[in-house]
Amino acid sequence: MKHIISPLDLSVQDIDDILNLSENIITSPEKYAKVCQGKKLATLFYEPSTRTRLSFEAAMMNLGGNVLGFSSADSSSAAKGESVADTIRVISSYADICAMRHPKEGAPLVAAQYSSIPVINAGDGGHNHPTQTLTDLLTIKNLKGRLDNLTIGLCGDLKFGRTVHSLIRAMIRYENVKFVMISPEELRIPDYLKREVLDRENIPYEEVNVLEPVMPKLDLLYMTRVQRERFFNEEDYIRLKDSFILDAKKMKHAREDMLVLHPLPRVNEISTEIDDDPRAVYFKQAEYGVYVRMALIMKLLELDGDC
Ligand code: NCD
Repeated sequence: MKHIISPLDLSVQDIDDILNLSENIITSPEKYAKVCQGKKLATLFYEPSTRTRLSFEAAMMNLGGNVLGFSSADSSSAAKGESVADTIRVISSYADICAMRHPKEGAPLVAAQYSSIPVINAGDGGHNHPTQTLTDLLTIKNLKGRLDNLTIGLCGDLKFGRTVHSLIRAMIRYENVKFVMISPEELRIPDYLKREVLDRENIPYEEVNVLEPVMPKLDLLYMTRVQRERFFNEEDYIRLKDSFILDAKKMKHAREDMLVLHPLPRVNEISTEIDDDPRAVYFKQAEYGVYVRMALIMKLLELDGDC
């Protein structure tokens, strides 16, 4: 049985299959409307979520399956002190597959060790968020037409932003991908990612703290929110929260075909004035999240469109 804890739990071939299946789902949704009939997805969310949880639930419903779960630790037995290990042992007998979000890094990995159903990490602390990465990859592949030969700007909270961490791990497996990391000094990507991922694989990257001068060389600009909930004190958050605000004036420095992605939720980092710019694709990106999650559920449950 397979669990998806890190984006590297999927090979490049697996990702290719999932993206192709997602595209088939987009073109012929009716073909997949019953493939999960009689199956249940449990969403175990110990941390807030809108898109990830609801797109998982919509994905399972679109496949003809059912969903159950909780959307906050307070409304589950975690509030009484139950461990993740005990919870997942029980949920394994209620559902066929589960998606778990947890504020602690590694919690979904622990769950996987005690689970008899596939566990999907729906975000663990500041660590990984593999299904957001699949969403990002589908967006890039469909709207940019390729996953290789890309200069990717990552902007905002690169220290705590798990979507960025997972995206880096996934993208370095494609040819000629370079990164431009744009963040305040204090929110740079963690050293372990530089050492174990970028340096080890000889991936070119630069770190800067101003956005405008690097804009012209970017194929993609991946904006992120400053992760308030992971800060140790509120003053630091307040000082750093508006470090980068992408607006129409800054977009003038970008190429005509540069795409702006954002995992959402957005706070202040993208001005609403660019929402109608055709290069701003973050709402389309959120829409793609349902299709990749449908494809992933099918893959993990070993179902195909013909049954
Ligand atoms: C992201 C997350 O939860 O890490 N949201 C999402 O799943 N789309 C990004 C964020 O919360 O900033």
